[in-house]
Amino acid sequence: MIAVPFDPVDAIMAVMHAAFDPAYGEAWNRRQIGDTLVQETSHFLLFDADGRVPASVEQTAGFTLSRKVLEEEEELLLIAVVPQARGRGVGSALLRQFIETATARGSNRLFLEMRAGNPAQALYLRHGFAPVGRRINYYRTGTNGPCDAITYARSAS
Ligand SMILES: CC(C)(COP(=O)(O)OP(=O)(O)OC[C@H]1O[C@@H](n2cnc3c(N)ncnc32)[C@H](O)[C@@H]1OP(=O)(O)O)[C@@H](O)C(=O)NCCC(=O)NCCS
Repeated sequence: MIAVPFDPVDAIMAVMHAAFDPAYGEAWNRRQIGDTLVQETSHFLLFDADGRVPASVEQTAGFTLSRKVLEEEEELLLIAVVPQARGRGVGSALLRQFIETATARGSNRLFLEMRAGNPAQALYLRHGFAPVGRRINYYRTGTNGPCDAITYARSAS
C-alpha cells in the first residue's frame, strides 16, 4: 500500500464522483471502497496530474483499485481520472504502474472488466489487454439500461 497523509477513501471517492457518468452505474459507493481497501488482497494507486503521489485529496487526479484474486492473478477493479486531467497520459501511467506493481506482487495474469462501448477500451488494447469474455447485461444500475461487460486479460510483464 502507498502511504499518503490523508484518507485514500476520500481521494478515491472525489475522483469517482467526477469521473464516472451516473447513466452507466459503474461507480462504487464509499462503503464498497472502504470495505475493499481493508482487505489485504486489495491494492490502490493514486496519482496527481503529473503522475506523482498526490499531496492532498484535492490534488488527486486519478486512481486504480485492484484485488489479487488467486495466487498468480490480479483484477483491476477500477481506474479513473478526473475529466480536467484526461488525455495527458495519467490513465496510461496508472495502467503501466498497475501492471508493474501487480507483476512485482507475483501476479502473472491480469484481468479487468469494462462496460461494452466504453472508449477506455483503446487504452486497454494499447497496453496489451485482449478481450476474453462478455457478461450479458452485467451493468444494471444505470439509467441507460443494462449494458454488457467485457472481460480483458493480459499476461503480466
Ligand atoms: C479511461 C480513463 C481512465 C483514461 O484516462 P486518461 O488520463 O484520459 O488516459 P490517457 O491520457 O493516458 O489516455 C487517453 C486514451 O484513453 C482512451 N480513452 C479513454 N476514455 C476516453 C474518452 N472518454 N474519450 C476519448 N478517449 C478515451 C483513448 O484511447 C485515449 O487515447 P488518445 O489520447 O491517444 O486518444 C478516463 O477516461 C476515465 O476516467 N474515464 C471514466 C472512468 C472509466 O470509464 N474508467 C474505466 C472503466 S473502470
